[in-house]
Amino acid sequence: MMTTGGQIIDGKAHAATLRAGIAQQVIARMAAGARAPALAVVLVGDDPASQVYVRNKIGACEQAGITSIEHRHDTSLSQADLLALVARLNADPAVDGILVQLPLPAHIDTACVIAAIHPDKDVDGFHPVNAGRLATGLDGFVPCTPLGCLRLLESTLGDITGAEALVIGRSNIVGRPLASLLISASATVTVAHSRSRDLPDLTRRADIVIAAVGRAEMVRGHWLKPGATVIDVGINRVPRDSGVGTKLVGDVAFDEAAQVAAHITPVPGGVGPMTIACLLENTLKAASLAAAQDHSPQRPFPR
Ligand code: GUN
Repeated sequence: MMTTGGQIIDGKAHAATLRAGIAQQVIARMAAGARAPALAVVLVGDDPASQVYVRNKIGACEQAGITSIEHRHDTSLSQADLLALVARLNADPAVDGILVQLPLPAHIDTACVIAAIHPDKDVDGFHPVNAGRLATGLDGFVPCTPLGCLRLLESTLGDITGAEALVIGRSNIVGRPLASLLISASATVTVAHSRSRDLPDLTRRADIVIAAVGRAEMVRGHWLKPGATVIDVGINRVPRDSGVGTKLVGDVAFDEAAQVAAHITPVPGGVGPMTIACLLENTLKAASLAAAQDHSPQRPFPR
């Protein structure tokens, strides 16, 4: 790695602080007589990246005192059986949060499965009700990666009111929810995507650039405004320069960008650890919601 002009945003350190705070809150809840928060993690198939993500999520739960209940199934699991599992988890009072790891096998309709998760157990924040709550500024579950990006931005820059923010990517998992979060934080938001006309020009105007496109090192250093803050959501596996083995790189050409940016997240060690910390935060929130619901029968989506 070359020397950098900009400051590297240490996502691992930020995530560790967040996770320690969550672990404390779990201890406090249990001292007050509550059971441990519980997350059901559903993995269908053998996608190698998903296996790693699920292992990391379960390990993080354990460290924070959150119970995780793993449901692993072969790729051949039918959509009907997956929907039946989700229905059981929705109805199970011992389960606070449900996470169905994506991508699902091609024969399963992902949108249908996401819509089957009870909105109050939807710790991924992917259910249309939670997407709608976020888009309209209501409280709900916010997807973990965008929430992690916002947390990194706010701890690096403080107030981002009026900042010009460029989100590159319009996925339901990152781009769209992140745009809503940034609007709520009073940034001026542009969302660019594969059909945008002049990405270098859009990038040059931005105080904050968040890249979430899944294309290795696509954002170049000379595209950036000097002093910009760069959040790199990409995780791309590419061959090493030596030709032997592979390595992970982001959507931003890090060495170039770090010469121009004031702050930049590395890959790995930037956004990734924050995604997991925010999942724990959402699971704790789901557990609190479930406890509060015991005394409040009038919620719009009864279990
Ligand atoms: N696949 C890639 N990112 C995510 C995520 O945040 N949640 C789930 N469930 N699957 C994913």
